[in-house]
Amino acid sequence: MCGIIGYVGDEAAAPIVYQGLENLEYRGYDSAGIALVNGARATGGSRATGGSRTTGDVAPDVAADGGLTVAKRSGEVSNLTVPDAPDATCGIGHTRWSTHGPPTDANAHPHVDCAESIAVVHNGIIENHETLKAELGDHEFTSQTDTEVVPHLLETELSETAGEDAPDLRTAVERVVDRLEGSYAVCAIHADENRIVAARDGSPLVVGHGEDAAFLASDVTAFLEHTREVTYLEDGDVVDLSADGDVEVFAPSDDAAESLPRRPVDRSVETVEWEADAAEKAGYEHYMRKEIHEQPTALRQTLSGRVDVDRARVDLDVSLPEAFLERVEEVQIVACGTSYYAGRYAARLIESFADVRTTVEIASEYEFGAGRDPDRTLTIAVTQSGETADTLGAIRRADSAGARTLAVTNTLGSSVTRAVDDAVFIRAGPEIGVAATKTFASQVTTLALLAVALGRERGTLSAARARSVLEDLRGLPGAVQQALDAEADVVTAAERYCDEDAFFFLGRDLGVPVALEGALKLKEIAYDHAEGFPAGELKHGPLALVTDRTPVLAVLTEGGAPAETMTNVTEAQTRGADAIGCVSADREFGTLDVAFEVPDVGLLEPLVANVYFQLFAYHVANEKGRAIDKPRNLAKSVTVE
Ligand code: F6R
Repeated sequence: MCGIIGYVGDEAAAPIVYQGLENLEYRGYDSAGIALVNGARATGGSRATGGSRTTGDVAPDVAADGGLTVAKRSGEVSNLTVPDAPDATCGIGHTRWSTHGPPTDANAHPHVDCAESIAVVHNGIIENHETLKAELGDHEFTSQTDTEVVPHLLETELSETAGEDAPDLRTAVERVVDRLEGSYAVCAIHADENRIVAARDGSPLVVGHGEDAAFLASDVTAFLEHTREVTYLEDGDVVDLSADGDVEVFAPSDDAAESLPRRPVDRSVETVEWEADAAEKAGYEHYMRKEIHEQPTALRQTLSGRVDVDRARVDLDVSLPEAFLERVEEVQIVACGTSYYAGRYAARLIESFADVRTTVEIASEYEFGAGRDPDRTLTIAVTQSGETADTLGAIRRADSAGARTLAVTNTLGSSVTRAVDDAVFIRAGPEIGVAATKTFASQVTTLALLAVALGRERGTLSAARARSVLEDLRGLPGAVQQALDAEADVVTAAERYCDEDAFFFLGRDLGVPVALEGALKLKEIAYDHAEGFPAGELKHGPLALVTDRTPVLAVLTEGGAPAETMTNVTEAQTRGADAIGCVSADREFGTLDVAFEVPDVGLLEPLVANVYFQLFAYHVANEKGRAIDKPRNLAKSVTVE
């Protein structure tokens, strides 16, 4: 949800920043923009304004005044003309998912102050922007965004210190961000210095350490081709990146007696294990299809080193205290979207293996209700990005209520990992397509491992049953591969049904979350009306919608009460609907119009059905020529509530 990139070093910044924007486009594609410190004037020193640089070759995107070159444009990053500025070695960029103000050129970031000497990009929401704008008086505003107050506030701060030897952008940023309410990652440059100053509170920001260069971004995928050495910033941090690649981090001071609001801190440098090419398309037309096909590998990574079948044990790199496990009475799962459906799948496994009441709540609806005992509650946040505002809000509410908290996430260093007592990583690798695919399978797998671990430690899951589940988990990557190998059959089905009026997905038990997830995929990338139902509910209302133009897609596998589900499928067929079923290898339902075979992996079979549903959604969307990796109105990382 908005992507930020910054670069300062000794190379031309424009192509690096532009590439970063392309890498970050999954976070928003309403508009994109770049601001560069014009090389000729950026010598450091005095804060005189003027001396603007003409960049007629990139007009009309570019306004070049006050020593900055700014290019911005509504629409996708490819609409943006990369400024031809070989001397500019410091720049910032932004790709936008609109909150305040429609996606126009004027609302695109970066935003500048009146003198066009300061440029700012922002991710998040500044809730008190109206008040701040009123306080700013006669500053000239050109957009409808909340962000635009920031460069003007910086302008005011810097003008107060005019006359000193050098502009102190950092002090100004510190003072300004301390007046902001809401959530932000903001990043600022000034025309007179090759330097970037940024701050975060509630929105992600990570520093990349290059050779004589430094990067700053919302996500490491922005600069992975340049460096894998990173520092994750904490909420409240202000960071100062200088031209030689030096990085200084300042954190709020706990000591009220200290005169400065922040003090320098050491933040650790970590090495990202993802390979740079993991975030590239590798010959696929879309990230989504690549990521669907990566599932066997992702699942092997998820399982790697964690399963000991002989001893019927699981090692998840997190050990919950034995006394807590004995007394735990409720597991709560909080999540959104696809992660919520992964949570619904896992809840059934946790209840069954660990014999503990497990609730799953949409994170934005979650409250820690009265009558619950926090001392006996484990709350699990399931989130691919680790940055979803609704999920962070929910897990923080659980934490304040006193529950023990655990994150199941794909993203090292993400905000959720700092908000919880323990974190487990799903290890799916970077997921760039806006529609979640491989991370769903890895989330359910990780949570299934957790369910086995809880069951074994609580003594509620026998060694024999645990071994059988672990064997099924080990068989899952191969089973998923078999589904992927049948892709040509899914293409045929997608071609046959892509023009239908609506699609209904049916399942029972573990098939329900997969039916819901299947419908979500089709909605978000094909823009078709699709709904998922517990199959038994069809006759209680939705059956009225069924016609010969509404195919039903059903989970008819182990773990999904296949015979009972087939009864409901037949009810739909009787009303004229065609039926597409994902069927366990040892079953046959001769009346299906299309059948996809699911290899025997026990309770994980609905996960294989999900792969067929992902491929179906992908190929229907492809037939319709949809923007599969960047569906309209959506963004991958939803950092606003
Ligand atoms: C759907 C999708 C979203 C996310 C949801 C939560 O394909 O990707 O529904 O699952 O926004 O995101 P995370 O898992 O990052 O918290």
